Amino acid sequence: MGHQVVDWLADYQLHPERFPVLSRLKPGEVIDALPASGPAEGEPMDAILRDFERTIVPGLTHWNHPGFMAYFANTASGPGVLGEMLAAGLNANGILWKTSPALTELEQVTLSWLRQWMGLPETFFGMIHDTASIGVMHAIAAARVYACPEGRTTGEWPLLVIYCSEHAHSSVEKGAIALGIGQQNVRKIAADEKFQMDPAELSAAIEHDLAHGFKPFCVVATVGTTSTTSIDPVPEIAAIAEKHDMWLHVDCAYAGSAAVSPKYRHFLNGADRAHSLITNPHKWLFTPVDLSVLYTSRPDILRQAFSLVPEFLRSKEDPRALNYMEYGVPLGRRFRALKLWFILRYYGQDTIAKMIEEHIRWAQELAREISADPDFEICAPTPMSVVCLRKKTSDEENEAILERVNASGEIFLSHTRLHGKYVIRIAIGNMGTTREHVFRAWELIRQ
Ligand SMILES: Cc1ncc(COP(=O)(O)O)c(C=O)c1O
Repeated sequence: MGHQVVDWLADYQLHPERFPVLSRLKPGEVIDALPASGPAEGEPMDAILRDFERTIVPGLTHWNHPGFMAYFANTASGPGVLGEMLAAGLNANGILWKTSPALTELEQVTLSWLRQWMGLPETFFGMIHDTASIGVMHAIAAARVYACPEGRTTGEWPLLVIYCSEHAHSSVEKGAIALGIGQQNVRKIAADEKFQMDPAELSAAIEHDLAHGFKPFCVVATVGTTSTTSIDPVPEIAAIAEKHDMWLHVDCAYAGSAAVSPKYRHFLNGADRAHSLITNPHKWLFTPVDLSVLYTSRPDILRQAFSLVPEFLRSKEDPRALNYMEYGVPLGRRFRALKLWFILRYYGQDTIAKMIEEHIRWAQELAREISADPDFEICAPTPMSVVCLRKKTSDEENEAILERVNASGEIFLSHTRLHGKYVIRIAIGNMGTTREHVFRAWELIRQ
């Protein structure tokens, strides 16, 4: 059965275009096609696999399809899939160093390799989370303990305020909600015409809050925002954070991978001054979901925020034996580092950098071509691999174009809203996507 599954996966990876990229199912169709209760007696694997193909696969949107250019496209690369299979089979659980030493140590090694490839300081400590959303919540929790160390015990905090740009990802706000900081205490700082946070607005907001009895404690700068991939001015933001002794978090969930290419290392200028930083290999580093990396220059604070060791988990102290459970909420820990190790080794830095450089080149070439079309406009700069465009007509017409392109089954695009207008996004990031797919998307839009 294992051979059968691997063969199926290999075929799938070779020919994802066999399927429409966007699932055509209506809500509830999968639920209606499956029994309402589970079987009392076990069923043969043949039957399960048959239903997987018949019922589940048509209900999938194919993220591994080369026409997938919605949100941020990603890739379950071959070596990543093999690493994931082994991790599932091994079922190692890294709750402590001793519950699987290689799991913990491979996480340290792979995150050190990635840190070096991204040009980040040696002092950065890395750990893997499932998603950037969970990672940023941990970063905010550490920032809060940095500002107010006794709050962890007393549960009493001053009027904490966190700052990010109006284009920051919603996960910052969700983290603040989850931690009880309150949605109204997330200040969304205005951005300039290039969708980058305005540092003067940030300074003014902090001064205003200080004058009104609030405690500014954390600022989030985004490198590669979700809508347009704009880059906040991290050096200026870092200087403001330092002036007020605030925690600086850099969210480069998408763009961090681009820094693997020396050509785009400058995206992370100033990030060495961050207290924490997140990059998502499951976005643009060809890694199957999920795998998000949280780096921090202050692991001591992260540990202060989360360390709690009940008697049944006590183990002998050894400076080289790291227990990741002391640095975050989860106790159980999947062997995610295995797939990352497979990917980093199989491709190497140069090939990864070349693939990312190509994605950026195609996006910029396409943006130039769109700019030359009198009926369309480019709606944001294209520093990375996302092109934002709209037809110079109504929102309704742009929405209708997107719906028709997505109904083709060939290409899947998503949208955003910029300056109040509906904007189509073409996001290049899948390893199987070629220049032809990218220009085909543009052809379909025009048609
Ligand atoms: C800039 C940025 N930060 C954070 C996230 C959240 O990522 P995750 O899905 O890993 O929580 C996203 C998702 O697209 C993002 O674009």
